[in-house]
Amino acid sequence: MTRIPLLIDTDPGQDDAIALLLAAASPELELLGVTTVAGNVPLALTTLNARKVLELAGRRDLPVCAGADRPLDVPLVTAEHVHGDTGLDGVDLPAPTLPVDPRHAADFIVQVLRERAPGTVTLCPLGPLTNIALALRRAPDVAARIRRIVLMGGGFFEGGNVTPAAEFNLYVDPQAAHEVFTSGVPITMAPLDVTHQALTRADRIAAIRALGSRAGDAVAAWMDFYERYDEQKYGQDGAPLHDPCVIAWLLAPELFQGRDCNVRIEVQSPLTRGMSVIDWWGATGLPANAQVLRHLDADGFFALLTERLGRL
Ligand code: RIB
Ligand code: CA
Repeated sequence: MTRIPLLIDTDPGQDDAIALLLAAASPELELLGVTTVAGNVPLALTTLNARKVLELAGRRDLPVCAGADRPLDVPLVTAEHVHGDTGLDGVDLPAPTLPVDPRHAADFIVQVLRERAPGTVTLCPLGPLTNIALALRRAPDVAARIRRIVLMGGGFFEGGNVTPAAEFNLYVDPQAAHEVFTSGVPITMAPLDVTHQALTRADRIAAIRALGSRAGDAVAAWMDFYERYDEQKYGQDGAPLHDPCVIAWLLAPELFQGRDCNVRIEVQSPLTRGMSVIDWWGATGLPANAQVLRHLDADGFFALLTERLGRL
């Protein structure tokens, strides 16, 4: 099997944590390291949480590099009201022994891209895009060496989740998002339009809890905690499981449907800051710069997630 080399940039966050576990449990993926960014909670906590989750996955071998503690040019906005004060509320994981790698996330991303063969490494940002933008600023040459950026972010037909117009990851650092979407790097985007179909329904949580493992129990508890906010907000059975959609697309792209579109990011307007303007109908005639995922086989997604968690 040809494994897919990837780096995950993340702001754990319960859904990020589940995405990390899915990646760690999947032999198709060669996880080269994890970089952390401020987002759901401040950087110190996202870095601590990433280390806790990798230890839960039995991956103490992986480098964890901390990155940006704030967006490029606006104050940091966090989401403790969704993820809890720790960012991983719902489960009390032990303090990690996995060390923090001293390299800055952006430098680590550049180093890996330069060390690996051109066009082989996939970047999977699961939070604000600050570290990706910093890497591209520090080493513009590496853009051509990235196989693809597969990210969770944006929304169009579903609107936004942090403002009526913008999804959290792109809202937190719209300039970084703009620089990534204009970088010329191939992009696959999992916006709210697709992640809102990945609902943590009670029967799906029960199947994960029935695994009877530490990882399964942690994921079920995170889902129980996580849905208290979104279920009330959206009035649906379950909360949207955003970030694992990125990893699932790498593993089973047939679970998703979408199309290549032009996507631009609003960076000027206070009203629509961070909005992803997705030209789904080709109204502008502008060239496509992203594959936008819009439909998901949710039962297939949760079957994949549950089976892989059962391997941890
Ligand atoms: O809008 C959802 C995204 O914001 C997810 O990545 C979640 O973890 C938060 O970072
Ligand atoms: Ca995230």
